[in-house]
Amino acid sequence: MPTVLQLTGGDPAAASVDAVVVALRPGEEGPVLAPGAESVDAAFDGGLAALLAVAGATGKAEEVVKLPTRGAITAPLVVGVGLGAEDDGDAAEQVRRAAGAAARALAGTGHALSVLGALDVRAAAEGTLLGAYAFTAYRSNGEGKEPVGQVDLTGDDEAALRTGTAVAEAVATARDLVNTPPNDLYPASFAERARELGEAAGLTVEVLDDAALAEGGFGGVLGVGQGSSRAPRLVRLSWSGGASPRARVALVGKGITFDTGGISIKPAAGMDQMTSDMAGAAAVVATTVLAARLELPVAVTATVPMAENMPSATAYRPGDVLRMYGGRTVEVLNTDAEGRLILADAIVRAAEDEPDYLVETATLTGAQLVALGTRTMGVMGSDAFRDRVAGLARAVGEDGWAMPFPAHLRGELDSRVADIANVAGHRYGGMLLAGVFLREFVPDTLPWAHLDIAGPSFHTGGPYGYTAKGGTGVPVRTLHAVLVDIAENG
Ligand code: BES
Ligand code: MN
Ligand code: ZN
Repeated sequence: MPTVLQLTGGDPAAASVDAVVVALRPGEEGPVLAPGAESVDAAFDGGLAALLAVAGATGKAEEVVKLPTRGAITAPLVVGVGLGAEDDGDAAEQVRRAAGAAARALAGTGHALSVLGALDVRAAAEGTLLGAYAFTAYRSNGEGKEPVGQVDLTGDDEAALRTGTAVAEAVATARDLVNTPPNDLYPASFAERARELGEAAGLTVEVLDDAALAEGGFGGVLGVGQGSSRAPRLVRLSWSGGASPRARVALVGKGITFDTGGISIKPAAGMDQMTSDMAGAAAVVATTVLAARLELPVAVTATVPMAENMPSATAYRPGDVLRMYGGRTVEVLNTDAEGRLILADAIVRAAEDEPDYLVETATLTGAQLVALGTRTMGVMGSDAFRDRVAGLARAVGEDGWAMPFPAHLRGELDSRVADIANVAGHRYGGMLLAGVFLREFVPDTLPWAHLDIAGPSFHTGGPYGYTAKGGTGVPVRTLHAVLVDIAENG
């Protein structure tokens, strides 16, 4: 059962719940209670923070300390969760992570009340729902605790609760798609799920199958997909933007349902992570559905290429030249640089609609992980829009950093036989080279951003904040923030 959220104006000390969550920050002489916990503190004669400190609390970020109340308040348990110091990072992200840590600690609990809503309802809602997220579709033994059943958040801002809930649900949709294994999520089944999600939200849906792709001349998607027994697809989802949309935004996301590398095959170690090579596509589908749910006044069209990159007797080869949608040619020097090939087709198709902005996202390069680590997406594109998107990524707690396109890189993709090669002859600046390749297919005057999410979209370490192992849903919150920003500022 998914976690239910609601707002409450009731006294946390008198609430008939299984646990009350209070928030702490570090102070000079031990942890200090954040606003919202006053009545609970009064029930402990003003000594709640000191008692939690005895149990080990310091107020540092994401720390969780449980304290039995022995009748001091109605609930039998107080859960103290750390926010970290006020000057140590973004306030909303502190609330999100604390709410996420609390939600994970509350797994197996029926009903809780959280005073984190008193700090920020939207952030508390997002953090709680994302922290409670669990992907259990493939567990046959019911192993693992149920997520917390219901959380009442202190507060009265219903609009913030609605937005936070809708955003968290979109993130969960993207996580579910990424977490679905590649034997069940392949181009045709992914396209079907995208269709169902889109139609349920009232979107216009178009799915091109392999015959339609051949008819249309989508040489990139077809080339990458030809080695698999599961044929590729191209999905288009459109939200009208309502009666008077402020702008038109094209979204494009890489949908490689599994990336073996193809004939330029990857090493076995870690190849299982390539189940997440459709995280960009998942985020773009989920965000377009979210735009419709929230009736954002921007017209959004998602163009989503889907293929499985396999080695086989029918696979494309190093040395092949592909004729992309729109007519340009690409020499394939490495079949593992497949994302940029399917994206080139999708970008050209998306640009035909003459959007005002193009945002494209992909698990594109291992070089992103080398350059920025596992949690910071690389943001490239046209200078001003790139910087705007990178700033929005940081503002929503999905870390992003702007990256350059040094002028000399384009020459390194010169091909002996075709208009461009898909890789250079070396590994330096691999994330940037992939972006430079994509730039060839973007009209010069179109503001565009390219988000390389190879690391941030899939978490392999232990849980932290509102992030568990597996699909993270990055960059759904960034894409949503970009749409909201464009709706407000053009
Ligand atoms: N899907 C991978 C990139 C990737 C790597 C995503 C690690 C997530 C984690 C992509 O298709 C790929 O294989 N890129 C190559 C490009 C190279 C051949 C130029 C890479 O990064 O090694
Ligand atoms: Mn690859
Ligand atoms: Zn890939």
